[in-house]
Formats: sequence, C-alpha cells, structure tokens
Amino acid sequence: MAEPKTGELMEKIVSLCKRRGFIFQSSEIYGGLNGFWDYGPLGAELKRNIKECWWRAMTRRRDDVVGLDASIIMHPRIWEASGHTSTFSDLMVDCLLTKKRFRADQIEPLSGTAYSYTGATDEPDAKQCKDAFSVLVPRGKPPESARKAAKQFYQQRGMANPSLLGERAEPVENTTRYNPENGSLLTEPRPFNLMLKTYVGPVESEDNKSYLRPETAQAIFVQFKNVIEVSRQKIPFGICQIGKAFRNEINPRNFTFRSREFEQMELEYFIRPDEVVQKMTGSVAQLSGTAPAALGSPAANWGWELWHKYWVEQRLAWYQSVGLGRDTLVEYWQKKEELAHYARATVDLLYKFPFGTQELEGIAARGNFDLSQHQKFSGKSMEYFDEEAKAKYVPHVIEPSAGVDRLALALICNAYREDQAPDEKGKMETRVVMKFHPRIAPIKVAVFPLLKNKPELVQKAKEVRDLLRPHLSVFYDEAGAIGRRYRRQDEAGTPFGVTIDFETLGEQGPELKDTVTLRDRDSMKQERVKIDELPALVVEKVR
Ligand code: GAP
Repeated sequence: MAEPKTGELMEKIVSLCKRRGFIFQSSEIYGGLNGFWDYGPLGAELKRNIKECWWRAMTRRRDDVVGLDASIIMHPRIWEASGHTSTFSDLMVDCLLTKKRFRADQIEPLSGTAYSYTGATDEPDAKQCKDAFSVLVPRGKPPESARKAAKQFYQQRGMANPSLLGERAEPVENTTRYNPENGSLLTEPRPFNLMLKTYVGPVESEDNKSYLRPETAQAIFVQFKNVIEVSRQKIPFGICQIGKAFRNEINPRNFTFRSREFEQMELEYFIRPDEVVQKMTGSVAQLSGTAPAALGSPAANWGWELWHKYWVEQRLAWYQSVGLGRDTLVEYWQKKEELAHYARATVDLLYKFPFGTQELEGIAARGNFDLSQHQKFSGKSMEYFDEEAKAKYVPHVIEPSAGVDRLALALICNAYREDQAPDEKGKMETRVVMKFHPRIAPIKVAVFPLLKNKPELVQKAKEVRDLLRPHLSVFYDEAGAIGRRYRRQDEAGTPFGVTIDFETLGEQGPELKDTVTLRDRDSMKQERVKIDELPALVVEKVR
C-alpha cells in the first residue's frame, strides 16, 4: 500500500485518537483550550502502561533507585535557585497587526520587498501618527496589499481615513522580522517566562506568588537529603519521579507534542565528582568506544562520562522494550554551543515523528549545579559524607528526563498501520490497526462470544473474561458481527482476541470442549487453546 503523506498521516492519527478515545481536546464543548489535552479511556490506559513500565524499569527492578512523589507547587525560592525565574524563557515576537504571538525561533525566514512607512495623517482633522510600520510582500507583487495592511495598522491607532507617509520599498532576503501569515512587521524579540503563576493563600500579592512546577526535577534536588537519610542508599544512587509539569508555551503545536500541561518521568542519578573517584580508585575510567558492550557493568572508577553514556544506553534499550525500533530513534549529542550553562554534556533521544524528528527525552550531565544552588539559596548543606571514599562533597548528577505525553504520541504514531484484511464475506478491505507492543497496549485481550443470542456462549465468554481479568486488562464485547468486533479491537491496538464458539461448548466433539480461539492482531492467525492454559499463555505474551 502507498504510504500516506506526512500531513495526511497526522490527520488520520489525530482523527483516530478522537474517534477511538485516545486523546480529546481539553474543554472541547467550550471551544477547547490551546495546549491542553484529555486522555480518553484508551489513552488513559496507554499512559498508565507507559508510566508503569518506566517506574518498573527505573526503580522496582533496580537496587540503586528510589521513588518520590512531590507537590506541584513548591516554595518560590526553589525557582530562583534553579534559575527558572531569571532564565526559563523563550524569545517571543508579536504581530503588530493581529497581535498574534510567535516563538521567535519558529518564524520561517522570508524574502521579498519590504514597504516601510514613517507614519500617517488622518484626512479630516490632520491628526498625525508617527509610529513606523512595514509590510513584506512577495517580490514582483504590487504594493497595494502592503498599503492596505498599513492603513489597517493606522486605523487601529484611531485614524478613520489614514494617508500613508514616507513610503519606501526595499528588497530583503531571509528575514525573520515579518509575520509569515500576513507579511506584517513583528515586534523586536523579547524574553517570555514560561512558568505559570498562581497565588497561594487568600491574598493575591507578590509575596504569595508561586508557580506550577515547570519540571519535576527540582523537587528531587530539594528532597535529596531527606531521601538519602531514610532510604539508606549510598552514592551512586538515584531518585526518580513521575508527575505533572506546566509550561506556558508560546506556541503549543503538533497535537500533544508541545503542550502547556504535560507529565514528565525524571531520574536524578547522583554520582561522585571525578576528583573523588580519582582519589579513591587512582584513576577515572575513560570511554573506550561507543558500543554499549564497551561500557561493561558500573564500577567504582566510573566518572560522569561513563555514567552519562550508561544512562543513554539504558534509556535507548528501554524505548526499544516498549516497541520503538532502534531505526525510529536518533541519539543526538548536543554541540558545545547548544549546551545549557550548567550542562557538561546532553544527549537528546529523538523519535522520527511524521512531522519531523523531535525530542522524546534529554539525558544531561548537570555537574553539581542544582544541589549547589539549593545549598546557596536555602543555607542548608547539601554535602554528603562518603564513607567508602572518605570524602565530603556535593554530589554530581546525571538526569534522564522524559515526557509521558510525547512518548504516548510517539507510540501512537509508531503503532498506526493500514493493511488489507478480508471482510465478513472474504473480500479484501483496508484495515486500520494499531500495532502497539503488547506491553503498552491499552487493552491486552478482548473476549467475544461468537453469538450474543446464545446464552451458553455468553455465559462461557463471561467466565473466560473473569478468569483473565485478575491478570490483565480485558475488554468484553458481544455486539455485532465477529469480524466487526475484531476490527474495533484492531483499531484499539488490542493484541489478542479470544472467541468462545460452539466447539468451546463441546458441540463439535469432546476433544475441543473448553478450548477457545486465540487471534493474533498482527498476523490475524488463530490458534486453539485450552481455557485453563489461557491466563499463563497471554500473560507470558504481554509481560
Ligand atoms: N529537568 C529537565 C527538563 O525538564 P526538558 O528537556 O525541558 O528538561 C524534558 O524536558 C522532557 O519533558 C522533554 O524531553 C519532553 O519529553 C518533555 N517536555 C518538555 N516540554 C514539553 C511540552 N511543552 N509538552 C510536552 N512535553 C514536554
């Protein structure tokens, strides 16, 4: 089958998300709220599975990572210490005509003729406006559209019938000073802080101003001392957290990719500073190649570079374990000039979305920046006494930081397929099928009685449903022709379908009594399985 074009593919995915209840626009009946999304029944299960898989891999299956669940609103000084109040901003520009706001780095460069005006006078009362304005029109186009836009600009400044002053035409190349939607001049870029503000307590004063956290990470840093005391962990060890984060993004876009409310899954993995490793072991191990095998197991002589590489490999392996093939992922090492001021190295793990290759997760080596800042701002020591190394230090950190919603979108895009399958009468038709890895599929098994008007089939099917339910998420469906029911589950991404038929009841002979058909979503093949063996068999396949 021909591959759908990128835009067309995204439209199909967005439409399926709504139709099948993966993702809805927030507040839809009121016209929606830009940058906010709600997850429907299938989306909620998908997100839950993502978080469960991450939590299991990052903490439950490890001895050296413990969890945290901190509050969303924290002391406002935290955001001063972390640098968010002063530097967590994007450059924004406004259209002088429509007031629409854009992120400065998202304006596409344009070429053409810029028509500039020094101001305008108003005919009836000779009122003057000296605000300069200009409009970009494509090269070779007459100036009328520029004049029309300029008149609109001066009308907005109170002129009934403006006459334009000082028109000047100038060719410009690759400029980002104009609104690509209407050619109007944009304001100079200025920083826009992305943190969402609120007030804590009954008085809306500066003193009571607080923020909805823009990342979960800072709570981990400020609770570092408490956690290490109670968990009896020793460095190297990590604290992980899953939770909501909020950013007042200037231009939310690409469906849920850039939202204003989203969830993060973050780990802060605390390590010894390289000087301490050097003193303790006599040397700091160097990367002897880029292959994962070259790393070996964590060792006492690992410095930040090896730990950083280790977490990049761990995270790549995890993405593959939830169904993103290595060929869909890109490992991007940020260049020196791209690094945040506190970062020694950052690797972005990117996914090849239909709208471009974009970040799923950042893995940063942050030195001891955060703990040192909190030590300075709170006046409380963040030092750790390392008995093994016989040294006191502020630990360094490696931070793998992922987005739940971005991953949910990547998994949805990755799962979407159209193939050919026979309908009820054996005629081939296009089938939409979500090929989720069984581990993250929202529903694991669908159970169907062949016919709904045969009480024995229905009763047996309900028994099978109840047998499976304690082990995994099961969907029971008796409505409509069996082929239609399979298609519905294919669109939901359910990897297995169990059908209870007359053979199950023993009507075709005793040897098939208490067996069912188990259908595989991807191959559409069916095998006969004993009911007793079903739970173990299916659990094994979705683990
Ligand atoms: N503590 C580091 C930190 O927050 P980040 O790169 O700003 O780093 C980490 O965010 C991850 O959070 C991103 O890789 C992405 O998956 C997710 N994320 C960030 N901003 C987002 C947004 N506006 N919408 C959805 N996910 C977002």
